[in-house]
Amino acid sequence: MAVYLVSVFLLLTQCQASPFDYPPPTNSSLAEALQIEVGEINNTSQQLLFSTPPPPGTIRRTPQTIIIGVRKGGTRALLEMLDIHPNIAVAATEVHFFDWDENYIKGIEWYRSLMPYSFENQITIEKTPGYFTSLQAPERIHSMNSSIKLLLILRDPTERVISDYTQVYYNRLENHKPVQPFEGIVIKNGALNTKYKAIQRSLYDVHMERWLKYFNLNQIHIVDGNTLIKTPLTELQKVERFLNLPPRIVSSNFYFNQTKGFFCIRSDGKERCLHESKGRPHPVVNETVLEQLYSYFREHNHRFYQMVNQSFDWH
Ligand code: A3P
Repeated sequence: MAVYLVSVFLLLTQCQASPFDYPPPTNSSLAEALQIEVGEINNTSQQLLFSTPPPPGTIRRTPQTIIIGVRKGGTRALLEMLDIHPNIAVAATEVHFFDWDENYIKGIEWYRSLMPYSFENQITIEKTPGYFTSLQAPERIHSMNSSIKLLLILRDPTERVISDYTQVYYNRLENHKPVQPFEGIVIKNGALNTKYKAIQRSLYDVHMERWLKYFNLNQIHIVDGNTLIKTPLTELQKVERFLNLPPRIVSSNFYFNQTKGFFCIRSDGKERCLHESKGRPHPVVNETVLEQLYSYFREHNHRFYQMVNQSFDWH
């Protein structure tokens, strides 16, 4: 009886420490995590308490790969699509370990406790888009694992700003807060408001410079977010090669959903699209404002292309 009580106590404390402990994240728990990410479920510990224990032979490992960003680049799509691969185990939530001091001080064991259970032949991946623009993340990740492989998904910087704005716009609407038109935020006193956080996040050269102080370029694979939208398989095959994984993701893992206007995932006999908060229509932006954004980013983009020896189809 005492043993039974101790086991129940241990199970309870484990579940409270991390509501995602049981079961190891699967596609359905990823979908659930996405709902949590957008604030639809607050506490799943009760339903997880009675779920199955982890498969024998699995343990939690710190990630061998991290998707470091960029916010609104397509990070969720990339993670969910990589989760198709049998040799990949993905963390269900955005952990914010390396960019939030209040989490970082909890230590590496706390971080590891949030990773999925994985087999020895699996690569653990977590994604926290805020890492890319964080001042501390590069050094902290380097001190955990200096030979880690990083994935960075980027899209046209102007599109990214509009996507960032759209996300905040809908969040404010949901919270009954006032909203402003895009142009009202981006233009101040007739000039581009370069202090706007969403614009600063799109200065890829500025952020990349910090990462290259700690990591070799060949440790960072850049995924083209615009291509991931149009032809996901092309980008995922490149990631498989970068991670030295056998090619397992195939064209039948994707199908185009006309209603959503995006590719959705077919895996393990199930079909699923990303949450409705991903791929929302953007506002129509005034042409002059668009031109101002394109021209502001142009120089930064060129500097970025030189830094990474690669160019992209951005404005
Ligand atoms: P929008 O919602 O502005 O279109 P993140 O996951 O980093 O927040 O990125 C969200 C973006 O992922 C979406 O921005 C969308 O354009 C992009 N995306 C890429 N592939 C997608 C897919 N298959 N389904 C939905 N969104 C996808």
